[in-house]
Amino acid sequence: MQTRPKHIAMIMDGNGRWAKKRLLPRAVGHVRGSSNVRSIVQVCVEHGVEYLTLFAFSTENWRRPEDEVSTLMDLFIQYLDKEVGEMKAAGIRFRMIGERSAFSASLQERIASAERETSQNTKLHLTVAANYGGQWDILKATQLWAQENPNTSLSLLEPQELKNYLSTRELPDPDLLIRTGGESRLSNFLLWQMAYTELYFTDTYWPEFDRAELEIALDWFSKRVRRFGQTDEQVLEEN
Ligand code: IPE
Ligand code: IPE
Ligand code: MG
Repeated sequence: MQTRPKHIAMIMDGNGRWAKKRLLPRAVGHVRGSSNVRSIVQVCVEHGVEYLTLFAFSTENWRRPEDEVSTLMDLFIQYLDKEVGEMKAAGIRFRMIGERSAFSASLQERIASAERETSQNTKLHLTVAANYGGQWDILKATQLWAQENPNTSLSLLEPQELKNYLSTRELPDPDLLIRTGGESRLSNFLLWQMAYTELYFTDTYWPEFDRAELEIALDWFSKRVRRFGQTDEQVLEEN
């Protein structure tokens, strides 16, 4: 029986409300949220999690006020500037999924360099989803498949085949999704990939989501019975 998630996906939500509760500007919430990433990555490493995928910026987040979008972009740059050296030393492989062509040249360069610098690492695969949308991912994968298979009818496309064209083609599907900030929705995150993911929602705002909170989620996950469409009896027999 699987007790520990191999791949955790996280929707880091609640930065703005965390700040508002303290009468602080939303940007302060984002700063705190960004610095929380480092400690959560560390806890995941300690727990032997192999893949961690973080939702940092959705395709819909461009609709926010311009100054907030620009704060978020600056924080992404700062995060990479600060963390790449340490990720490299700690065995963390960095990847970004999402449409990066919308980012500034300097951010794109940093992303490419972080991916390159850490490409030999295998301890933890850290993937940041930025300008990412699940619908975008599925559509893009279908278009790519059609481009590469111009003489094959789309009606022959199978789910297992499409998987190889998604931006997550190098990652297993998430076992556990954690969403902080009290909302029980997916907000266009890994729609295809989370078909059988265990969904965990907590009211805790992202800047306050710490080791203890993560360990509660891991404990909750360890008690789930994953049937993948089968019966309890079949699952018991297999384990
Ligand atoms: C998550 O926090 C960060 C991003 C979506 C980029 P929010 O900024 O959504 O915080 P709330 O939901 O307004 O509290
Ligand atoms: C989801 O949070 C996206 C990220 C955490 C990056 P949002 O705050 O954008 O989600 P909605 O708009 O409340 O669904
Ligand atoms: Mg939010």
